[in-house]
Amino acid sequence: MDKVAFTQMKDGTKEEYEFLTRHEVEHTKGTADRLLKALVDLDEGLSGYQITRLGHSLQSATRAFRDGADIDWIVSTLLHDIGDIYAPYNHDEYAAAILRPFVREQCTWCVATHGDFQMVYYGHHVGGNPHKRDHHKGNIYFDDCVAFCERWDQSSFDPAYDTLPLDFFRPMVNEVFARTPYDPNVIRQGHREPLVIPQAE
Ligand SMILES: [Fe+2]
Ligand SMILES: [Fe+2]
Repeated sequence: MDKVAFTQMKDGTKEEYEFLTRHEVEHTKGTADRLLKALVDLDEGLSGYQITRLGHSLQSATRAFRDGADIDWIVSTLLHDIGDIYAPYNHDEYAAAILRPFVREQCTWCVATHGDFQMVYYGHHVGGNPHKRDHHKGNIYFDDCVAFCERWDQSSFDPAYDTLPLDFFRPMVNEVFARTPYDPNVIRQGHREPLVIPQAE
């Protein structure tokens, strides 16, 4: 079989669906590569800043790496604005949907809500609510998202910063998206890993 025979899903046979499942599994192996390619596409989006969205994504992830943050934090930070391509009005939720099966809940939550938290820096300039993050108060990850925005997101628009290239992060993206989706040992519900690990000199 190189194609199924059905034209309506309800007519498919067990063999056809098993055949399609094998195809899907093959396709998912390319997720990391497709995401990295999408990040490069970010380079064309959103002019006006001193650096492109790709530059911003790389700079954020570089700061996370240099803070000693773990791989879940680094990959989540690298991809936190990937939704800018197709979901400009809820780019944070879009990125979180991509990450959710593969990284710790803590990181997904911060990516999903970072748009609200970032408003504290510029909401007052654009007629928005700078205190939008306040409705997340009480969440166990609130302080993590404050730190994520302060240390890695709002700070990463500097063309003079020594940003690491995309290829540096490629193995980490490959590793994360090769994980078993929704593995409870990865999701670690309620577990918090620090953003900053002091490094020995
Ligand atoms: Fe963002
Ligand atoms: Fe960002």
